[in-house]
Amino acid sequence: MEIPRPRSRSSSTSSSTCSGSPLALDPSVLELLNSHLTEKAEEEARFKALEAEHVAARLAGLDVEDDDAGREDKPMISLDDYKKTFGEDWQLSQFWYSNEFADHLSTKLHGMCTRETKIAFMCSPTAFVSFQHMKQLPGAHVFEVDSRFAALSPRQFVPYDLDSPDDFPKKFQGFFDIVVVDPPFLNEVTNVKVSSTIRQIIKPKGKLLLITSTSIEDIFKKVYSEPPLGPLRKTALDVQHGQLANDFASWGNWDGAEEFGRD
Ligand SMILES: C[S@@+](CC[C@H](N)C(=O)[O-])C[C@H]1O[C@@H](n2cnc3c(N)ncnc32)[C@H](O)[C@@H]1O
Repeated sequence: MEIPRPRSRSSSTSSSTCSGSPLALDPSVLELLNSHLTEKAEEEARFKALEAEHVAARLAGLDVEDDDAGREDKPMISLDDYKKTFGEDWQLSQFWYSNEFADHLSTKLHGMCTRETKIAFMCSPTAFVSFQHMKQLPGAHVFEVDSRFAALSPRQFVPYDLDSPDDFPKKFQGFFDIVVVDPPFLNEVTNVKVSSTIRQIIKPKGKLLLITSTSIEDIFKKVYSEPPLGPLRKTALDVQHGQLANDFASWGNWDGAEEFGRD
């Protein structure tokens, strides 16, 4: 994986020393370990509660899958609750946006949407949560390999593994007005796979917003050069993560995308 380790982790355990007894842990390490285990247990309990809410809603007939028409969804959880419930899994290259950035992005995206807009958040669950928490659109969907996100809104979750780029429900062929994507790995092969899916699910004049590291900008000419995905223009968005120091930016395929994100 090319994304560097979060800053907080690399420094938190480096001062551990042996206390003399082979079984005794340094108290500061023990404290860290206990707080980590408590955090994980709380995260798990919140997740189970969220899942249980959806099961209860389904049993009560309030949550009908595959029905986009005219139905109000349960309110989306806040970003703070989301982050307490869905810890980052670094094996899946999960690094969540800062709340400030996610909300700024959502405000700008809502500015491009109507109630009827169909918008896909591919590999960008935090953006989906912020967007739906701000104002719910029935045509918003999150494409993700991590099935935990089904608990956010089962009807709007689309199981998606970029290693099977053609494997998605056929109803999404040419379906989306806007696609937001933050590919998990910073290389050409990942972008080729993801772009192959986007080419199939986006409308001919649809808008693509790609959020990624500036370090792979040179592959865009190969992967995103042709309509409907390109050419790409760098936007004014200042991309911020909670625990990642990478130089990220975003690019859009529409005329005037350079102004997207400007205050
Ligand atoms: C770099 S993160 C982007 C998340 C974004 N920063 C956010 O806060 O919403 C990439 C996302 O891709 C997802 N992912 C990892 N492997 C994947 C795969 N094989 N197919 C589809 N998505 C994948 C991860 O679960 C993660 O949410």
